[in-house]
Amino acid sequence: MRKKMVAGNWKMHGNLVDNKQLLDAVIAELNGLGEDLVAVCVPYLYLPSVQSQLQNTKIALGAQNVSQYEKGAYTGEISASMLSDFQCQYVIVGHSERRMLFGEDNHVVAEKYVAAQNAGITPILCVGETMEQREAKITEQVIEQQLMSVINLAGIETLNKAVVAYEPVWAIGTGKTASPEQAQDVHAFIREGIAKQNLNVANQLTVLYGGSVKGNNASELFAMPDIDGGLIGGASLIANDFIAICRALRH
Ligand code: 13P
Repeated sequence: MRKKMVAGNWKMHGNLVDNKQLLDAVIAELNGLGEDLVAVCVPYLYLPSVQSQLQNTKIALGAQNVSQYEKGAYTGEISASMLSDFQCQYVIVGHSERRMLFGEDNHVVAEKYVAAQNAGITPILCVGETMEQREAKITEQVIEQQLMSVINLAGIETLNKAVVAYEPVWAIGTGKTASPEQAQDVHAFIREGIAKQNLNVANQLTVLYGGSVKGNNASELFAMPDIDGGLIGGASLIANDFIAICRALRH
């Protein structure tokens, strides 16, 4: 059985007071969500405070980025072993905002994926096409390249210790979500592509959808056969919305 999961990506939002309030509400409502995984990926600086707030809960801690390097003269960077020091279980790699705004290419993303796994952290590998790429009908090629650069560097079996998130760039923060059918088509493409290389890996791989998931559209997205949950931006900052999205995994 594939694990289902909802991960919140707080992006560059929050402060000590708001984070505490948000997590108090989320913990109170979600602490017994069965087998499903819930994680929050928080800004680096808040890892220690969120770590202590999540202690003795079933909610996992994640980061939003990691250096591809192990250690050294890399001013301003954070290594995977530093994330491990704070019991970080997940890290997002290859988010489209990092690819587009901070120049991370497929190779750097693959190196970050490897760095995370070497430190025992599960990477949440984001893939997705822009609107121009979708209109040019190269969505599948783009996603295949994004996945293959990781598979070529790390090996197909490493996907057993990873999560993939399909996030169409045009749906992120726009309120314009992919329809369940559009998302399912790409999720099926991802899973089938991996199945051609290793059926077991494909069958157990958790593939999340991200892009304007809200409390009122999560259920129909999560009902699709190859969508195993969501990576949530804006709605993860609002306790009731995030709770509703996590609950939608169960329906
Ligand atoms: P929104 O849910 O705000 O569209 O963001 C999605 C996302 O980028 C999650 O990583």
